Amino acid sequence: MSIKNICCIGAGYVGGPTMTMIAAKCPDIIVNVVDINKNRIAAWNDKNVDKLPIYEPGLSDLVAKTRNKNLFFSTEVEQAIQAADMIFISVNTPTKTYGVGKGMAADLKYIELCARQIAAVATTDKIIVEKSTLPVRTAEALKRILDNTGNGVNFEILSNPEFLAEGTAVSDLLNPDRVLIGGEETESGRLAQQALVDVYANWVPKERILTTNVWSSELSKLTANAFLAQRVSSINSLSELCEVTEADVGEVAKAIGSDSRIGPKFLKASVGFGGSCFQKDILNLVYIAQSYGLKEVADYWEQVIIMNDHQKRRFAKKIVETLFNTVSGKKIAVLGWAFKKDTNDTRESAAIYVVDYLLNEQAEVVVYDPKVNAEQIYADLDYLNTRSGEDNRKLLNVVNDHQLAFEDSHAAAILTEWDEFKSFDWNTLYEKMLKPAFLFDGRMILDHEELERIGFEMYTIGRG
Ligand code: NAD
Ligand code: UDX
Repeated sequence: MSIKNICCIGAGYVGGPTMTMIAAKCPDIIVNVVDINKNRIAAWNDKNVDKLPIYEPGLSDLVAKTRNKNLFFSTEVEQAIQAADMIFISVNTPTKTYGVGKGMAADLKYIELCARQIAAVATTDKIIVEKSTLPVRTAEALKRILDNTGNGVNFEILSNPEFLAEGTAVSDLLNPDRVLIGGEETESGRLAQQALVDVYANWVPKERILTTNVWSSELSKLTANAFLAQRVSSINSLSELCEVTEADVGEVAKAIGSDSRIGPKFLKASVGFGGSCFQKDILNLVYIAQSYGLKEVADYWEQVIIMNDHQKRRFAKKIVETLFNTVSGKKIAVLGWAFKKDTNDTRESAAIYVVDYLLNEQAEVVVYDPKVNAEQIYADLDYLNTRSGEDNRKLLNVVNDHQLAFEDSHAAAILTEWDEFKSFDWNTLYEKMLKPAFLFDGRMILDHEELERIGFEMYTIGRG
């Protein structure tokens, strides 16, 4: 079976870039990306590709090449479902904020709504692809909804989790380590699986396209994120030990990462991992293990989150302690709000929690981030509900010029590893600050010795 028309429900950080890559690499396939969020779709359709809703290096060029040729963004969900041979579900699956599993389980209401809408609208057979990250055995529930409310058409369900990382989405999609496709072990399941293999085979070498059963595929996605986050928590746990023993966590990471069995990636100590995936997916894994009564398994993975929360709090506490145990009324420059460089995504960013801690201590915070706007920063803080929106706006300022952030500040803290921070004119910035001038490097990106020579009192994660 050859796919001619794809619909993707959900035009977010995954749906947008993934479908753009499929459209670019498969000119014979029509790709309709649909979303209920009108503003988001309008931004995807903006003539000025610099105004796309998502910032990702290389993405705007790719969108400019394919949009309105074989790639279309629209809010016409039903129409796109009807026309498609294959439907990707790429909607959000956040942590539940209510009811059973609150704060742990994945909220599947958006997924279920999609399934019900597909079932109501479809008049021809469809292959449904789970692109969203889902708890293991979700395909079973999807199949029941689709089969019981449908119009007698046949639905095949595949699991095809996405492994792209934000900030490198385009290169990850262009050159993935692997593409994972889980399918049912039936004749029609295998045919559906092959149809999706053929789509990816337009640009991904065949040996990197892995096929498994649906449950392995669903569980592999949660597991991959849990393993990656575990490495960050492992090195972060050691960063605290390094600080009290005068070992250097950068040197330790290099020494252990040179062992080919361990490998060098994901060993960068930091103020804590953020992003929309790691915490949500581990909490979900913990919840699943708990629901099967596997207490030790659940406790083991929960520790990754506990360590990450500790690291964020530890960094904020360090700032307050260093500034003579009081930051009330002191101006602190915060550099970076995004959860990592090269993205405008702020979901679960460590910056939110560090700044919340500082605002609780009545610090005056001034934030500079090259890609995140003031509206988003205030929205992130307001969402925590720690203090009133009015107080957040009174205590925190957002500036477009980093120099302004340093003016008469007592301290500066790097919370995102944006490249431009490395090339700041640190001599001039030092002059702008009150003395002693404290600099907290939460990303290990600055030359510690060089900055100390300028006069800064430095704190780098993982260095005594
Ligand atoms: P997102 O919030 O950026 O996008 C989801 C979109 O789905 C939103 O625009 C929302 O309006 C839309 N939507 C929700 N319900 C809808 C419906 N019924 N009909 C039409 N549109 C609907 O989320 P995201 O970051 O793209 O993540 C999507 C999924 O992919 C999640 O399950 C996530 O865990 C997974 N994932 C994310 C990443 C990442 O880096 N962000 C990476 C891998 C996997
Ligand atoms: C992650 C997974 O990498 C990706 O495969 C999955 O599809 C989605 O979740 P993402 O969250 O976009 O991607 O970014 P990632 O590069 O994994 O970084 C996550 C967080 O960990 C960031 O806050 C980052 O700064 C932090 N991190 C990462 C570290 O603190 N140290 C490291 O060594 C690596």
